[in-house]
Amino acid sequence: MRQVNLGIIGAGTVGGGVVQALERNGALMASRLGVRLHVARVAVRDLKKKRGVSIPQTILTTDVGSVVNDPEIDLVVELIGGTTLARTLTLDALKQGKPVVTANKALLSAHGEELFAAAEQFGANLYYEASVAGGIPIIKVLREGLIGNRITRIYGIVNGTCNYILTRMKLEGADFADVLADAQRLGYAEAEPSLDVDGYDAAHKTGILASLAHGFWVNPRDIYVEGIRNITKLDIRFATQLGYTIRLLGIVKKIAPAKGSPKGESQIQVSVYPTLVPDSHVLASVNDVFNAIYVRGDVVGDTLYYGRGAGQDATASAVLSDLADAALDLKCGKSRVPPFVPHERKGAVLKMDDIICRYYLRLTVVDKPGTLAKIAAILGEASIGISSVIQPEGHEGKSVPLILMIHDAKNSAMRGALAKIGRLGVIKAPPLMIRVENFD
Ligand SMILES: NC(=O)c1ccc[n+]([C@@H]2O[C@H](COP(=O)([O-])OP(=O)(O)OC[C@H]3O[C@@H](n4cnc5c(N)ncnc54)[C@H](OP(=O)(O)O)[C@@H]3O)[C@@H](O)[C@H]2O)c1
Repeated sequence: MRQVNLGIIGAGTVGGGVVQALERNGALMASRLGVRLHVARVAVRDLKKKRGVSIPQTILTTDVGSVVNDPEIDLVVELIGGTTLARTLTLDALKQGKPVVTANKALLSAHGEELFAAAEQFGANLYYEASVAGGIPIIKVLREGLIGNRITRIYGIVNGTCNYILTRMKLEGADFADVLADAQRLGYAEAEPSLDVDGYDAAHKTGILASLAHGFWVNPRDIYVEGIRNITKLDIRFATQLGYTIRLLGIVKKIAPAKGSPKGESQIQVSVYPTLVPDSHVLASVNDVFNAIYVRGDVVGDTLYYGRGAGQDATASAVLSDLADAALDLKCGKSRVPPFVPHERKGAVLKMDDIICRYYLRLTVVDKPGTLAKIAAILGEASIGISSVIQPEGHEGKSVPLILMIHDAKNSAMRGALAKIGRLGVIKAPPLMIRVENFD
């Protein structure tokens, strides 16, 4: 049986999990693939570190370059994270015609275009299943399972930390800061939580899905990103009262070209923001650290993928799937399925300002006659319609929350109106706006 020698760079959570999973199921994979996956070299930063998996000292090294350049290594597995060294190693391996498997969403988000061009140029594949939604094989779904579809919608809960925090805020009526502190204590959130709670991690993943689905590499700078820091328990409570659950969604939508736009240009919305999801929608019931991705294709219709989005075993499972694909490529002597093919040269990401949606608006106002009329007048001037209003009774003269549900409006119009509303004397705190999704 043919043997493929793996050079694994990084043996932390994911790398250690891959070594362990290969120990457990390597023989099974060999019998399924007709190829044996052999862990030949493993690079780490600290040779003396205690690891949850036993790796023979003879194959451990701190010299990452020696792993990539070793002629005995057929396939490079990049699991160190970061975008600088990881980029260099990936490019070096591809230049040598060695396929690379990575779990690194930050790397792909920043350098995907360059890396896939190198893969194409040097005839070596770059696989990245573990970079989005851990154990959910969503890359394979978009690349292969739905290849006969135009993808019109993707809605993803792709950050487990945010979903965990929002779930607990709802179940316990707790505040963001308290749940975050507890999540950090329990190891569900990093000590530096910004990458997760400010939406950047979800944006990396959403950009990768958008690129794959729409055939042009989405520049991370074009992705509109808002995290969950400003969501309060009050918002969760009012959303519940209105029949919604708040989720951080990565959204990729194909938008019909506006009249007069250049022919053939594919416009897509690519964004990450907290969203009011109707309780009747399946994504509203995705709880805790779980991820779920809802994909609509023009042939297949609506589909849903659910599972663990991170963690050692889920991520290792995704890496193993890529190892199988790369090993089969090596066995066949050619790439069987290209992991990313640019095919939409004229694609563009629509600016957030031009996107139309509905809104939940929470204002902190002085409860006195005429307040609502002033706010309604500003919204009316911008042709923005109010669909419903909630205001707690019996607080005359005091600051109270005023909740407005807003009909479809352009984001630019809402932004302008909110700036004006925020300057009114009756407004006592910065307005908070959360977008509402109706999944049409
Ligand atoms: N953790 C998850 O659940 C998850 C899920 C999906 C994707 N990912 C992605 O998977 C990648 C790895 O994440 P992780 O959680 O496994 O990270 P991690 O636990 O911090 O492990 C990183 C590994 O890389 C090694 N390393 C770092 N810099 C190195 C250098 N300069 N030279 C040699 N070795 C170096 C470390 O060595 P030492 O062990 O000696 O320190 C460690 O073994 C990241 O791109 C991450 O975004 C992670």
